[in-house]
Amino acid sequence: MISVPEEIPLDAYGRRIDYLRISLTDACNLRCVYCMPKDMQFLPERDKLQMADYRRLLPLFGRLGFKKFRFTGGEPTLHPGLLELVSLCAELPGDPLCALTTNAIRLPELARPLARAGLRRINVSLDSLDPQRFERMARGPSLAQAWEGVLAAEAAGLEVKLNAVMVRNFNEDDLLPLARLSQRYPWQIRFLEMMPFAEQTEFQHTRGIKNRSVQERLEAEFGALEPVGDRLDGEARVMRIPGAPGSLGFISPVTDPFCASCNRMRLTADGKLRLCLLKEDEVNLWQALRSGAGDDDLLELLKEGIRRKPWGHELANNRFAQNRAMNQIGG
Ligand code: GTP
Ligand code: 5AD
Ligand code: SF4
Repeated sequence: MISVPEEIPLDAYGRRIDYLRISLTDACNLRCVYCMPKDMQFLPERDKLQMADYRRLLPLFGRLGFKKFRFTGGEPTLHPGLLELVSLCAELPGDPLCALTTNAIRLPELARPLARAGLRRINVSLDSLDPQRFERMARGPSLAQAWEGVLAAEAAGLEVKLNAVMVRNFNEDDLLPLARLSQRYPWQIRFLEMMPFAEQTEFQHTRGIKNRSVQERLEAEFGALEPVGDRLDGEARVMRIPGAPGSLGFISPVTDPFCASCNRMRLTADGKLRLCLLKEDEVNLWQALRSGAGDDDLLELLKEGIRRKPWGHELANNRFAQNRAMNQIGG
């Protein structure tokens, strides 16, 4: 039988949506201050998508032309099916890019199997290189293990990026040490502006640091940074300390929104297609899956989600989503 490719819809603003971020769980082995409350209640197992659901849904995203899949959380390495899910994605037609965003604590044992399963890129959330500051920020004592995990990812041949959310009076002293990693390793070290979400809002509003100030502090130390390429790398503006093998990325959703070039959607662990990180609108795939929807019905729901994708966030007007904390979306 000849397989006819799906007609791939653009969203209402002409954007091609071909990047799916799959939040596998809201649970985590850390409790980062900017991400979730300390006493967060996690989803019970019965409310989460099952492997059979992913086996149905992932090929449908493949048919719609999705080219990049990233597993997020919470902490995606806590999901027992992660290796199978990576293989499922890697085997979709069109050789899609399979990536993971993780705190790296479980990478010492998982980096190699993940690479063998078809993973190509790992983004590690690492906010501090100082054990005490790491512990204060992540509310967990695992810097040594996370660092070992980053090195294991590198040794397994995975492309490595580091994400640091900059928080006033928490990790400002890590700015220079983090940037210096790019002089030693061929990694992209990225500075993220903290975004507001339900629950953590006051903290996020008062402790954020603008990337303009981050760049000024870096340039005071290293001299003018050189632009790398002439475009954004995803949502990151990329620069380099002259002569460094690695680069620095600035992700500035608060002061320099990148919604115009947004190409992504999210699948939450409880089976909702979230259309924009910072908007509440979601398509309920869970209900469709549990009420016997066929593949064609599901495909229609995915297309509807693409058509309904909002333009972007309204942080500048102090409007943001209230219905989920960051660990329930996965960034
Ligand atoms: P690459 O494949 O390396 O480009 O990864 P990525 O930047 O897409 O993924 P990562 O999980 O490392 O996310 C980096 C940061 O960008 C996180 O803080 C995310 O919350 C933020 N981010 C990702 N997508 C969006 C988005 O659509 N809107 C906003 N405002 N922020 C986003
Ligand atoms: N603002 C910006 N980035 C955040 N992350 C978690 N919470 C926030 C927030 N409030 C980051 C994590 C991870 C990425 C997916 O999102 O550090 O690297
Ligand atoms: Fe866990 Fe990542 Fe949230 Fe930190 S940012 S608590 S590592 S999910």
